[in-house]
Amino acid sequence: MVIFFLQTPVHLFLITHCRTSVDIFNNCSYQVDPAFYPMASEDGTATGGFPLIAGASQVVTLYSGWSGRIWGRTGCNSAGVCTSGGCPSGGENCTSPAPTGPTLAQFTIDGYADFDYFNPTSGDNFNIPLTIEPGSGCSTAPVSCIDANGDGNGCGATSSCPTGTSYTIQFC
Ligand SMILES: *[C@@H]1O[C@H](CO)[C@@H](O)[C@H](O)[C@H]1NC(C)=O
Ligand SMILES: *[C@@H]1O[C@H](CO)[C@@H](O)[C@H](O)[C@H]1NC(C)=O
Repeated sequence: MVIFFLQTPVHLFLITHCRTSVDIFNNCSYQVDPAFYPMASEDGTATGGFPLIAGASQVVTLYSGWSGRIWGRTGCNSAGVCTSGGCPSGGENCTSPAPTGPTLAQFTIDGYADFDYFNPTSGDNFNIPLTIEPGSGCSTAPVSCIDANGDGNGCGATSSCPTGTSYTIQFC
């Protein structure tokens, strides 16, 4: 009995530190289809992307050690053929790295010294404004890229937060 009592908090601690929660919020007046490479997890299922109508949001999780890119696709049809940001592999459920073209949110989860490292960048190109906002537990200000000139607070600059922080990525 004593052993079970002691194990429970340890188990909960591990669960809360293995996954990082990212709330993807579409504040654009049009549909945006977020894409993830490598894949994220949505309710326990691997996802490379999905449609988000105007005003909608969806929480995904990133595993410890995840290092990659999240971006928004615009003008997509149900087959995942898009006006901007479409996946080189095709399809709504993206299985290939980002093409050149979209604004990117780059993350490394649980990197050096138990910190997450992230930046918004329009270095490859720009399609829609993108903001990364850390949740409670991290005092780093929201960072964004708001146009093709690299304007926006912290556009292209790398920020960090302690691993375990949750994030919101907002389009527009
Ligand atoms: C959402 O976008 C509108 C412009 O369409 C802007 O005025 C507003 O501040 C944005 N919302 C947030 C939470 O940034
Ligand atoms: C996306 O593709 C992956 C790998 O092919 C697959 O495991 C996963 O179930 C797919 N997700 C959806 C939502 O279709």
